[in-house]
Amino acid sequence: MNPAAGSAVAIEMPRAGARLPAEAPVGFDRWSGLDRARRTTRLAGFFGLLTLKEHVAPRLHVRPLVAELFLTENCNLRCRSCGCWTTTTRGELRTDEWCNVIDQLADLGILKVNFTGGEPLVRRDAVGLVAYAANRGIRDIHLNTNAIHLDPGMLTRILAAGVRSFNISVDGPDAATHDEIRGVEGSFETTIRHLQGVIEQRDRYKLAVRMNFTVMRSNARVLPEIARLAQRLGVRLYLNLATDTTFLFRTDLVTGEAQVDRDELRSALEEVNAMARMDRRWLPAHADLRYVIDHFEDRLQATLPCAESQLKLMIHSQGQVGGCWGHDPSMSVREQSLRTIVDSTEYRDEHERFFRKECVGCGSNYSLNLRWRPASLMHNSLERLRATGGRSRQ
Ligand SMILES: C[S@@+](CC[C@H](N)C(=O)[O-])C[C@H]1O[C@@H](n2cnc3c(N)ncnc32)[C@H](O)[C@@H]1O
Ligand code: SF4
Ligand code: SF4
Repeated sequence: MNPAAGSAVAIEMPRAGARLPAEAPVGFDRWSGLDRARRTTRLAGFFGLLTLKEHVAPRLHVRPLVAELFLTENCNLRCRSCGCWTTTTRGELRTDEWCNVIDQLADLGILKVNFTGGEPLVRRDAVGLVAYAANRGIRDIHLNTNAIHLDPGMLTRILAAGVRSFNISVDGPDAATHDEIRGVEGSFETTIRHLQGVIEQRDRYKLAVRMNFTVMRSNARVLPEIARLAQRLGVRLYLNLATDTTFLFRTDLVTGEAQVDRDELRSALEEVNAMARMDRRWLPAHADLRYVIDHFEDRLQATLPCAESQLKLMIHSQGQVGGCWGHDPSMSVREQSLRTIVDSTEYRDEHERFFRKECVGCGSNYSLNLRWRPASLMHNSLERLRATGGRSRQ
């Protein structure tokens, strides 16, 4: 875990204004055809550049499109797969410092901001910071949360502020499994109730909602049940993969959870794959399901370039910037501007290595890493053909 800010010299940053806005600006949800075209072009351009980088120009610098903001590394749950709750992280960026970071992200043309943690909703300024980002012109705003604080009042406020995409963590299909892993009795009941509240608002706000299930030793056997729960709730299931290499998760307890019984995993995933052949709505793509097995056999997957490390600009709660999920950042927004960091030789060199998988390996956002690979597209198409026996779907 990160120690307190300690010897780091905090540079005074300009105040962004004493009060944060409460709501996204008028017209926030109105996307013109041009807005959509711009967004699609930037995403297509990003993958185009990655293809060039892979095959033609390895030194090509691909600038990040998405910022991952670890608003806090503290938390209100005690998950056995995570180290956040085991210490208290102090010296985290103040409200005005986060506003300054968001200003810089807007100036850099960052497409999307993910608010995460720790548990981002334990920060009292979380809603205001979301609204601040929306008012700075960032249109894609995402929240990762355990949903404990996402009661109807908080949901109304966070939607008004501009969050349009949610990952809500559910680590078991029932209270016994989930509460045991998440370390707090009653958390399953609260999280599912609040997840249902988000699902009810999905159409009104055109929300993207995912139920994030972290596959680990303690829950691999219940994969078919979590798939059935996703189908029952009508929510997309994402299978996140437990590792002990990623920052926040480097503890002995996690090391045990990151080692999954292979036979148990295989048979559980075969069942989910069969369910996905019958009805693939809400369930992971076939290539993703196959990757889950691969990850627990070889975490590095060296032949699959890491698009995730190129897409994301990681900003930790005490201001450290750079690195990736498995590699700690060495620069800080308290010392340099984001533009200076992203264009520095150090950042460029390390990110070139990350893309080539000269790294410790982790399964973070493997779904993105697979999405632009012809082999994954082929695998998914073949599985679909198999499911329909060559008949086209009605
Ligand atoms: C660190 S949490 C932050 C957001 C929020 N506190 C939550 O639990 O959703 C982000 C995601 O990481 C997942 N996670 C926890 N332990 C993990 C591990 N060892 N490896 C990979 N992901 C893990 C959580 O389940 C959650 O879905
Ligand atoms: S996984 Fe999320 S909810 Fe669980 S301890 Fe870590 S930060 Fe908290
Ligand atoms: S796979 Fe490697 S490069 Fe990619 S985020 Fe994980 S540790 Fe970093």
